[in-house]
Amino acid sequence: MTPLTSGTAGPLRGRISIPGDKSISHRALILGALAIGRTRIEGLLEGEDVLRTASAIRALGAAAERGKDGVWTVTGVGVGGFAEPGEVLDFGNSGTGIRLMLGALATTPITTVFTGDASLRRRPMGRVARPLERMGARILARDGDRLPLTLQGAIDPLPISYTLPVPSAQVKSAVLLAGLNAPGETTVIEPLATRDHTERMLRHFGATVVTATAGGGRQIRLKGEVELKGGDLAVPGDPSSAAFPIVAALILPGSEIEITGVSMNELRTGLLVTLGEMGARIERVNARTAGGEEVADLVVRASALRGVEVPAERAPSMIDEYPVLAIAAAFAQGRTVMRGLGELRVKESDRLTAVAEGLAACGVSVEIEGDTLAVEGLGGRPRGDAAIVARLDHRIAMAFLVMGLAAERPVSIDDGETINTSFPGFVRLMNGLGASIAEATA
Ligand code: S3P
Repeated sequence: MTPLTSGTAGPLRGRISIPGDKSISHRALILGALAIGRTRIEGLLEGEDVLRTASAIRALGAAAERGKDGVWTVTGVGVGGFAEPGEVLDFGNSGTGIRLMLGALATTPITTVFTGDASLRRRPMGRVARPLERMGARILARDGDRLPLTLQGAIDPLPISYTLPVPSAQVKSAVLLAGLNAPGETTVIEPLATRDHTERMLRHFGATVVTATAGGGRQIRLKGEVELKGGDLAVPGDPSSAAFPIVAALILPGSEIEITGVSMNELRTGLLVTLGEMGARIERVNARTAGGEEVADLVVRASALRGVEVPAERAPSMIDEYPVLAIAAAFAQGRTVMRGLGELRVKESDRLTAVAEGLAACGVSVEIEGDTLAVEGLGGRPRGDAAIVARLDHRIAMAFLVMGLAAERPVSIDDGETINTSFPGFVRLMNGLGASIAEATA
């Protein structure tokens, strides 16, 4: 564990690009492994979570290599072509990696053992196990559907029509990936639309995926027993990582930064909508399309923020951004109420509790009622002066380091290493903009 401290910084200035999108990176490796032929991936996130997925597909018979130019090449085994691994697949901290791979393996008749770190071993796998069992897979897990677990892929896979009980792109993606090797049509119905990178990328690889909107949600139909063809992919910058420098620039007076090449997929930009309502000055420039995803550069200027109500329906489009939004809310004038946050309890940590306890330790009034979080903004700088436990949660670690940059007194976190799961180079990049984050002297 490397403890880190962030102390009051001057304005942030400069132009940065941030690492590739984590969701898209996992999918690029997995679909590349399921395709025939070669897939070239530019801008792959080389964070620990994604590297675990790369190791997993290698253990299953695919090849995944990083070229000297940083471009990755995956040579796939074809749908249904994974070979039984001779080792336990360890997904570390990554809920996305494991849930997507459970789907990708559920309709291939091999046996695989899955595990992860202490955080992942606490997280529920029943949400993917239930639909995959209906497709013919057998799953034997610890009590509460926790890891480690053993998956025996279906010998005679069945297509299903599945309505998501929780708005989860991971569950949707697991079912769709399992559907690739099932006959007929696999359908997922989501009452609230979640990130659609799997659907987009499946089409890019030649699958037939038909999406219809229904109310605020979607119905997604996939034609099974398909052959995927490898191709080229460019991974845009991760909006969930961009969130940290964005909020830091908003709350540090005099800041002006530019972040280039950030994914603007509208199912990922709920934070920008919310910050806009709070009075944030964030300009989207140079909008373009890259690798089937909308991308733009963002110019962010320090702003006087005001508290807002964030509706529950917006949660799927900013689910990973609540920790850092709560930091922005602490600096805003007035109360910010965030509704529909139940899913935060089952992320890398119980983020609802982690955020509330962390903010309280920094001198901010917070309230949790059911799955609503209310933050009493100070319209100025919170006290800070807190030691935060990161709980194996990269986003808790980064959010409170951002708090420390603009609070009256420094904030420390006990474990900076967890940041490498999604945002390698975070400290260097932030300090390059003018932040002051350093290893804490115990
Ligand atoms: C992700 C979906 C979300 C998100 C996670 C990445 C994905 O999880 O929190 O970081 O890539 O599909 P849920 O599906 O559990 O909402």
